[in-house]
Amino acid sequence: MTASPPPPAPWRATVLTLFPEMFPGPLGVSLAGRALASGIWSLEARDIRASATDKHRSVDDTPAGGGPGMVLRADVLAAAIDAATIAPERPKLLMSPRGRPLTQSFVRELAAGPGPLIVCGRFEGIDQRVIDARELVEVSIGDYVLSGGEIAALVLIDACVRLLPGVMGKLESGTDESFSDGLLEYPQYTRPQTFEGRTIPDVLTSGDHGKVAAWRRAQAEALTEARRPDLWADWQARGPREQTRTSQKAPKSTTDG
Ligand code: ADE
Repeated sequence: MTASPPPPAPWRATVLTLFPEMFPGPLGVSLAGRALASGIWSLEARDIRASATDKHRSVDDTPAGGGPGMVLRADVLAAAIDAATIAPERPKLLMSPRGRPLTQSFVRELAAGPGPLIVCGRFEGIDQRVIDARELVEVSIGDYVLSGGEIAALVLIDACVRLLPGVMGKLESGTDESFSDGLLEYPQYTRPQTFEGRTIPDVLTSGDHGKVAAWRRAQAEALTEARRPDLWADWQARGPREQTRTSQKAPKSTTDG
């Protein structure tokens, strides 16, 4: 008798933060919460302050060269990173508005790996030397400034977790939606047939799957062209073969977003 292969190691997020009580937060409910409870992924929120060494447990200091605010100390954060003993194949990320933009393709890349260490910054920033010495990859969730990296980390983890095998049903495999193929999602409708005088477009109740697919594709293209010229330019730059391959999708039916 041959032994069955061991189950795959769950995707793992290790978060370094001054506010570990912010985790799992919203990730403890709904799709991500159920997957967390069932062991599809795991979360460890570690307190950076536990690595402070002075009697005041201080983690920050005034910026060299002057200026407002406080800077997270390199020695304290480096000790916290080292204490987390992260396997070398796991990405080490720092949430930061000056980082690499978090896109759906970057999310897919992170979801396909073993799961990241995520450092959440606070204060005016963190000492550059620890970013360099521990080779942290800075990641931004958008061109605005949050009061810390925690909410950005929650966004990143949520986007990854919903792509893990077994988190969404078979039909809702996370592919038929905005960004998965480079286009914004087409409009959706459900009963009632008439709402405040507005009816569902006839094509969607025609039963003609070919026409439905063509209508959805045209809607997705029109929305993308009107709202996101950047995505539209990327889409047009692709060859027609690549566009066709990625736009053949099964309908989705999730209520989880
Ligand atoms: N920390 C503060 N603002 C941020 C942003 N926009 N993205 C990632 N981390 C952040």
